[in-house]
Amino acid sequence: MTGPKIRIYKDLPAMSRAAAQAIVEIASNALESRGRFVLALSGGSTPLALFSLLAQPPFRDRLLWGQIHFFWADERCVPPDHPESNYGQAQRALFDQVPLPPENVHRIQGELKPARAAEEYVHVLQEFGEADHAWPRFDCVLLGLGADGHTASLFPAVYNPTEQISPAIAVTASYQGRPAQRVTLTPLAFNSARHVLFLVSGQEKAGALAAVLSGSDDPFRWPAQRIHPTDGTVVWIVDEAAATTLQKDPNGLQDR
Ligand code: 6PG
Repeated sequence: MTGPKIRIYKDLPAMSRAAAQAIVEIASNALESRGRFVLALSGGSTPLALFSLLAQPPFRDRLLWGQIHFFWADERCVPPDHPESNYGQAQRALFDQVPLPPENVHRIQGELKPARAAEEYVHVLQEFGEADHAWPRFDCVLLGLGADGHTASLFPAVYNPTEQISPAIAVTASYQGRPAQRVTLTPLAFNSARHVLFLVSGQEKAGALAAVLSGSDDPFRWPAQRIHPTDGTVVWIVDEAAATTLQKDPNGLQDR
């Protein structure tokens, strides 16, 4: 298991282009090897620029939309048409612009009660199970990082014992006034992924990014430290503003 690679870009647009390129390359390999590309999206605002890039040439034309299956790393327990829905933002920014079959979108049913939404999602994950797991080996997982250090809806100093046995769980958390009731994939699902891309932008994330990557090993406080695929890669695609307090490390830290 190789350590995380860190790629620093000038700004969010440059990061988003790099992430779009990475996704196209991962997709091409997945389709060649397995005939499908299974991707889990994060929510929040950081990936919106990426979604817009994927929805237009050249990236739009380099993806075989009929063979791509979209899942989510987490979802707020709100209806799909709610402004805070992670599914809803991906639909507006991306799905409405590309020839993606609706049956390829496997959203978390945020309109249900959290426990029920998690249960239903576990069933959907099971339908895509592989490598003797009851969930897919995601070809690519997109994740963000909160200024408090959370990723997906795995929050600092919040331990859910069921995350050891289930690929998706319901959680209650709060961040920047966003909906508190959530459903999230767990490290069980993340750590069987083939590629994890963390997208982190902005000065307000610098402290959390440095703590996760250069600080002491404390996965309880820093949930992103729990994400290290057993047979997969982790790449941190960050901008200079988020990287201001990162220790310069010759292994894997490359400026772009
Ligand atoms: C969510 C996300 C969450 C997000 C971080 C960063 O549902 O909110 O999945 O984990 O990635 O909170 O959010 P921003 O990109 O908005 O900073």
